[in-house]
Amino acid sequence: EQTEKDGFEHFMLKEIYEQPNAFRNTLLNRIDEDGKQIVLKDFPLRPEQINRFEKIFIVACGTAYHAGLIGKNVIEELARIPVEVDVASEFRYRRPIISEKTLVIVVSQSGETADTLAALRESQRLGAKVLAITNVQGSSIAREADYVLATFAGPEIAVASTKAYTSQVIVFYLLGLYLAQVKETLAETERECLIANLRQLPEQAEKALQHADDIRVYAESIKNHASLFFIGRGIDYAVALEGSLKLKEISYLHSEAYAAGELKHGTLALIEEGTPVIALVTQKELEEKMVSNITEVKARGGNVLAITLEGNVELHRNVDEVCFVPATLPVFTPILTVIPLQLISYYTSLALGNDVDKPRNLAKSVTVE
Ligand code: G6P
Repeated sequence: EQTEKDGFEHFMLKEIYEQPNAFRNTLLNRIDEDGKQIVLKDFPLRPEQINRFEKIFIVACGTAYHAGLIGKNVIEELARIPVEVDVASEFRYRRPIISEKTLVIVVSQSGETADTLAALRESQRLGAKVLAITNVQGSSIAREADYVLATFAGPEIAVASTKAYTSQVIVFYLLGLYLAQVKETLAETERECLIANLRQLPEQAEKALQHADDIRVYAESIKNHASLFFIGRGIDYAVALEGSLKLKEISYLHSEAYAAGELKHGTLALIEEGTPVIALVTQKELEEKMVSNITEVKARGGNVLAITLEGNVELHRNVDEVCFVPATLPVFTPILTVIPLQLISYYTSLALGNDVDKPRNLAKSVTVE
């Protein structure tokens, strides 16, 4: 087992560091040579078929559901198709409104999650086409779906998903850009600029990994707190949810993710002197509002770590600590900001002496409903 870990102490850490390559492999052969077009051979729909989709559902569990939340933002922003995201275990029981004009996207690392598989079957029964995003090519979900877009993250052993999640997000970028290309919702120059930035993500992820030592120190500082909060707006809120889940899964600390603007409607009552709050601040147009939410937290004694883009130095004035990730376009920030959050959960779990790769009560793949 030690050799499989390539010298890393845990599979989770190894998998966090494998992300740049997982992105490269997932992007490979899906962008044309001159960087102008997305090529999705595994999604061979004619433009008139794509134009028929009036609505998209994304259905998944756990971390894959969080990738779906990013997917919603990406597809709606780039291709202007309405998207709903559902937890698979709820989806079937709420009589979803589905027809032949619906595309259902199921997301599953293992391709074996029972709830997600059941959602796939129910969607097909109701007449929808199902596209699966999965990391295991021969899995049940891959076999039963109408189309499969694979993530090439390689085997993921740690129960807490890292490289599979970010590779799913990469597929959503490809898919969002592809749908935009077919539906002509973006100017060509805009699409080319997005593609150029997408191609930089593997290198930028490598840079984001370089802050591991600082994060280790931060993890020591939070490990004895009863509760933590993750806040963000827009796409940052979706990342906050994933950061909070990761921390709960392996550190067993209680945390909650909040849409920052919603704090004052209840959660602010829980902020006390020293409560750690991790704020994601990457969306320029939402920054002023974020800063005012951070000020509310600080006024109640909260200790704020901001995760933001390189260059945003003014933020230092409003928070206790800052962690920078490389600057990219607004839609691509999740893939970089989630990396420090993964490292925070890893090092906190490690500091608490937990079994990082095999957290209590959880399984890598849940094949019962
Ligand atoms: C389990 C795992 C989670 C995972 C979820 C969905 O609960 O512990 O890490 O996100 O299943 O798994 P899937 O294989 O469908 O992505």
